[in-house]
Amino acid sequence: MPRPHETGPIYLDCDTGIDDALTLGYLVAEGADLVGVGTVSGNVSAELGARNTLDVLALAGRADVSVAVGAHDPIGGTFQGGAPSVHGANGIGDVELPRSPAAPTGETAAAMLSRLARAHPGRLHVLAVGPLTNLALALEADPELPELVAGVTIMGGAALVPGNVTAVAEANIHNDVVAAARVLEAPWPVTVVGLDVTMEARFEQRHLDALLAGPPVAVALGRMLETYFRYYTPVLGRPACALHDPLAAAVALGAVEPTLAPVVPMEVDTTGGPGRGQTLVDLRSRYLGYPPLPGARHRIVLEVPQGFGDDLAAALLRLSD
Ligand code: BDR
Ligand code: CA
Repeated sequence: MPRPHETGPIYLDCDTGIDDALTLGYLVAEGADLVGVGTVSGNVSAELGARNTLDVLALAGRADVSVAVGAHDPIGGTFQGGAPSVHGANGIGDVELPRSPAAPTGETAAAMLSRLARAHPGRLHVLAVGPLTNLALALEADPELPELVAGVTIMGGAALVPGNVTAVAEANIHNDVVAAARVLEAPWPVTVVGLDVTMEARFEQRHLDALLAGPPVAVALGRMLETYFRYYTPVLGRPACALHDPLAAAVALGAVEPTLAPVVPMEVDTTGGPGRGQTLVDLRSRYLGYPPLPGARHRIVLEVPQGFGDDLAAALLRLSD
């Protein structure tokens, strides 16, 4: 896997969101070549997500990064209002950030993705940490996209663990199952960082305390995290939170090397039944004797080394005004 400085240009698609905000800070702290960010409705509306993204980027010293507002509604559906009980009413823990003077570009996120893929042929990496609507719309508008993009990393799904919105469905997949299915069917290499590993990557109380005692950017992120901790403390049984989107970013950058990540078929249940949104990961190849499975293209991250929370906190503490 490439190290951060070798990863090449990155397009981030997000629904900012507290863990999305941490991801923006992490990418900046790691010196990632962030060439554009598109937003999508998920934790908050795409419009509010763009405002949050601009404000977090400005706080982290990167007001120069272009931000495009993406899809408001999932394909064939309607945005259901987000997750205020997890991320606060404004998506960033009800923290009021200084307003960035920057505004979103006039283009859609799908148009931005296509434009950036053509500006960096064979080099652009797509990191998607929200519902996959923008990626699906870009594939529809620009069928050559899979040949132009170096790779895609998504935070989404659950292979061997429960979902987080239904018994089997993870939020980013569940919020636009049609888009997720299209993105996984497209002929590009996808790395899937799902709940199997993101629920085990944690900030503990000591990480939160360190951020709250740090420089102003870290304090702002720490205050957002207080809301996230309020949601996750009863879920995890102690003061802590899961680090979904930042872990996906670390895998995309090569800063976290998965220790188990088979390349196997994966598809999304788009039916209307109780399995809607489930990611069906075909792991039969773990046993000897099954014939090679067609469609084995997706790299499913099932195990990563422990300790990412320490690395993330250290990175965020490096951010200064
Ligand atoms: C995913 O859903 C969102 O709430 C988070 O930002 C993350 O991308 C976790 O299921
Ligand atoms: Ca997200």
